[in-house]
Amino acid sequence: MPDILRPALHFTPPQGWINDPNGTLWVNGEYHLFYQADPDSIANRAQHWGHAVSADLLHWEHLPTALCPDGLGMIWSGSAVYDRDNASGLGREGCGPIVAAYTNHGPDGAECQSLAFSNDGGRTFTKYEGNPVLAEPGRRDFRDPRVIRYEPLNLWVMAVASGDRLRLYHSENLRQWRFASEFGPVAALGDAIWECPDLFELPYQGGSRWVFTLSTTNGGPGWSGAAHPAHPCILGDGPGMFYFVGSFDGTRFVAENGPLPVDYGRDFYAAIGFYGSPQPVWIGWQNCWPYSMHTPADTWRGMMSLPRELSVAYDDGQAGLRLVQQPCAAFEALPRAAVLATRAMVLRPQSALQYSSCGQTFEIALEMEPAGALEVELFASLRLIVDADAGEAALERIEGANDCEHPLFAGERLTAPLSAAAPLRVRLVVDTNAVEVFLQEGRAVISALTYPLKSGRGVAVRAAKEPCALKEFAIRRIQTT
Ligand code: FRU
Repeated sequence: MPDILRPALHFTPPQGWINDPNGTLWVNGEYHLFYQADPDSIANRAQHWGHAVSADLLHWEHLPTALCPDGLGMIWSGSAVYDRDNASGLGREGCGPIVAAYTNHGPDGAECQSLAFSNDGGRTFTKYEGNPVLAEPGRRDFRDPRVIRYEPLNLWVMAVASGDRLRLYHSENLRQWRFASEFGPVAALGDAIWECPDLFELPYQGGSRWVFTLSTTNGGPGWSGAAHPAHPCILGDGPGMFYFVGSFDGTRFVAENGPLPVDYGRDFYAAIGFYGSPQPVWIGWQNCWPYSMHTPADTWRGMMSLPRELSVAYDDGQAGLRLVQQPCAAFEALPRAAVLATRAMVLRPQSALQYSSCGQTFEIALEMEPAGALEVELFASLRLIVDADAGEAALERIEGANDCEHPLFAGERLTAPLSAAAPLRVRLVVDTNAVEVFLQEGRAVISALTYPLKSGRGVAVRAAKEPCALKEFAIRRIQTT
């Protein structure tokens, strides 16, 4: 892929393959992004942990590969913590280390959890000599350890995806782990394999709620499940991410609501939060396994999403606690130049607003009156329809218009519900091939890649049926350097 197609704000590897974010951590004023990488190929042949650091989550400095495959296997996904009090004893001169926990995926498919530690701020890592620290022979698909600190019990907790469920473990020292509890299976998620769990606490109405998130090998967009785990659903094809909102006492997670889709598009997977960050914020792999090796590529392949800040809100319109995702603060602070900004206007079906180019990185922000439907078409390859009357937004990659020959890449209409209780604000963030649609202030997000076959970066906005009234409409170029 020529370098011109690198997105400006979405993280991409310097070369080779990238998938899940790993070991995301904020320590000493620095964000660390480790990630599943195969630096020597644009397919995933042998996963390492790549590494980059940033002060603001948008401008990244690439660092040397942090972890390479070893006798126990490849280095699959996991997490990292700052062991401030040196509970692990792996620190030096009274200082605590950064401890990474990851899955070793062996040649025979066996999976176990291992540690590596760093005493130089994450610049170099040493694998722990007692690896693996958690092995349960015979347990398949046992991976992606997410370690968190649970202060009230003075314990470390490790969440590990295991087949169709989550297993939680306790430790005082990060090196020895004992089983604590299990969550799942969940009927609504069928027999999908769970991957990449995260477990975090978010403030809510003077108290807090815990959110448990996971990625699944199938049951993604197209998922038509009810909001209650007791209601089975028809699973869609392909991977997806789901969340539950509930409570956690250090041992057990109890769901109040969920599973609900994290993102209604195909291209958001394996997201994990930056542990210890001043603001709850996470990042996901903006891709989808089934076609991830079919997208146009040259010396590198794959990207991360924009980092997204997280909160929970009660949604009167949809009855229940929801995860809310918004672009991170550094993104909001980037200078913008308005291509067009207007207050009230009426769109008509026959006459589209047309822009031949809004630049490489731009956003379209609008607010609809709660009636009618509008359509935004990007690069003649992707279409968003927000239908206030039907109470849903739909994103579709236009058939035959994208440079990716995979059945899941085009011809699907992926829908997200709109809440009747929140203003109809819609924001599309477009960065080269990456599109993220934030609906109603992040109550629902739809993410998609698009690889237009035709050159040209035209944008067209029109009413989808009857005239459609907007309260506000703006297209803004985003200054990325
Ligand atoms: C999720 C995943 C993880 C695994 C990693 C391997 O995308 O399948 O479960 O650890 O990718 O790269």
